[in-house]
Amino acid sequence: MIPDSFKQELLHRVDVVDVIERYVPLKKGGSNYLACCPFHSEKTPSFTVSPTKQFYHCFGCGVHGNAISFLMEYQGLGYVEAVKDLAESVGMKMPEFEPREKKSESGPDLYAIMEQACDYYREQLKTSPRAIEYLKGRGLTGKIAARFGIGYAPEGWQNLERVFQSYADKALKDAGLVIDAEGGRRYDRFRDRIMFPILNQRGSVIAFGGRVIGEGEPKYLNSPETPLFEKGQELYGLSQARPAIRAASRVIVVEGYMDVVALAQHGIEYAVATLGTATSPVHVQKLLRQTDEVVFCFDGDAAGRKAAWHALEVSLPYLADNKTVRFLFLSPEHDPDSFVREEGGKAFEKKLGEARPLSAFLLDELKGRVDPGTAEGRSRLVHEAKPLLQKLSAPALRLQLLKALADAAGMSQEDAARIMEIRVARGYDARPAPAQGAPRAAHLPKRRREHRLLQCLLAKPALAGELPQAMLEADSFEGRMLVAVADFCRHNPQAQGGELIEHFKDTEFAAVLASGQAALLETKFEADHMEPEFRGEVANWLHEQRRSRLDALTAKSEQTPAEQVEIRDLVAQLKDQSDVGPKNATI
Ligand code: UTP
Ligand code: MN
Repeated sequence: MIPDSFKQELLHRVDVVDVIERYVPLKKGGSNYLACCPFHSEKTPSFTVSPTKQFYHCFGCGVHGNAISFLMEYQGLGYVEAVKDLAESVGMKMPEFEPREKKSESGPDLYAIMEQACDYYREQLKTSPRAIEYLKGRGLTGKIAARFGIGYAPEGWQNLERVFQSYADKALKDAGLVIDAEGGRRYDRFRDRIMFPILNQRGSVIAFGGRVIGEGEPKYLNSPETPLFEKGQELYGLSQARPAIRAASRVIVVEGYMDVVALAQHGIEYAVATLGTATSPVHVQKLLRQTDEVVFCFDGDAAGRKAAWHALEVSLPYLADNKTVRFLFLSPEHDPDSFVREEGGKAFEKKLGEARPLSAFLLDELKGRVDPGTAEGRSRLVHEAKPLLQKLSAPALRLQLLKALADAAGMSQEDAARIMEIRVARGYDARPAPAQGAPRAAHLPKRRREHRLLQCLLAKPALAGELPQAMLEADSFEGRMLVAVADFCRHNPQAQGGELIEHFKDTEFAAVLASGQAALLETKFEADHMEPEFRGEVANWLHEQRRSRLDALTAKSEQTPAEQVEIRDLVAQLKDQSDVGPKNATI
């Protein structure tokens, strides 16, 4: 673990504007900086960087964070790497700590080793007519092979001995290039295979997939998980596809190496592959950050539909109303590679146009599972939809799905919403109201106040010192958040927005805090304007407290002498606040 104090100090020393400007040209706009978002394609800039809050936010795709998270996202760095990078840039020495991935932090550079191996395989391809013939036979030109850095690992057990200074080096094993057999003998993992390098977002080689030439088992041999390569997180071809994804405003997700390569061969350069693993949340997040439209392309068979349904479930929490996820099912005899080779790029793009929106796939799939002719079937429809709609984060889409489901189930929208326990729009909570107790309406102003106080604290953490302890009640999400943020601010009155976000990044509050920050950027509120707002809220609260205490006391038929004193004090205090008119006074 990197100590918190080090992170705070680091975030104080670096300037998020400098860091981002290294990669993205920024223009000054008011007190902030603006650019077209590097994480999704857009024509007008909605990516905003605040020098005062040390925070960035894209109003288009919602990415946000501080200097550390920017480097992680943009460069595809791990957390430790990003911190190290930043620390070096401002001359801070990393503290001693137990790194989780020791090998990638110090010692031999695994990236360099992978690069060297990749160069070697590419060289070898030129000398192997058999491998070249195989690739040509699959319709690939040298240009496309070069685009993807395709190579060839020759036959033989210890070819890498000639490539690296020390074949016995532990790092070769760590990189997944060699295998240690029993008895201490070591041999190359990849032999007589077509080599597909897998790159991270920065374009560094982190793993390989090796295809057997012709028939053989396994068809593809992949690098094991290494400090550089975490399966289930990487997307094959993403590094190469990025510009095309931006230009096309969409990305296609296919299953295999050859699908990506063949599509590129036919001019469709915005495809990436999940490489035989199921679609993961990391995949979806990465993709939705790059672009607004993701098309998952699966085989039309049962396995393909199952994989698609999984991708749908994984996507729900990351959807927004300006994002589209669609599904394309090819006929059973085809994968994208064979389709595009047979029918061409144009035909594939036409097919893409027919891809089904997530909403249609979801509805049809669910309807197909139940018998709509019976009350039981229609009820089950709602029952099965419930967890899905609850996960769906796009409010307008959720509302539409709710309507369609209610229709199909033959019930009113309100009933369907109540049964599924979903919130259909901001401010209207369809969850069943608590049976007894205070009416919900009474909670809303409190939450709104807590929200506003939070906003003020985000702008000016030092204000936390002025919050009466009694105002802090962890009795709701907003309440808990305010308690937590006020506590942090009291201990770190000098903190800036970026540090606050950093501190809460793994908590339930992360998203709300980030959007609170974003709102600050948008409204251009300066910290000074927040002070009167904050004090006003506190004063109002105090006023209400006194008011209701006064009401409670005067409602009694008889008061003790102490209570009579209290009443007099309260009246005086309320008068002092000069907002209790004689008309309102009940005494
Ligand atoms: P497929 O079996 O559909 O292969 O596996 P493919 O992509 O169509 O391959 P070609 O066209 O026969 O060359 C899809 C993906 O699953 C992973 C690979 O990433 C492959 O691209 N896979 C498959 C493996 O990792 N190992 C295997 O043995 C098979
Ligand atoms: Mn194939």
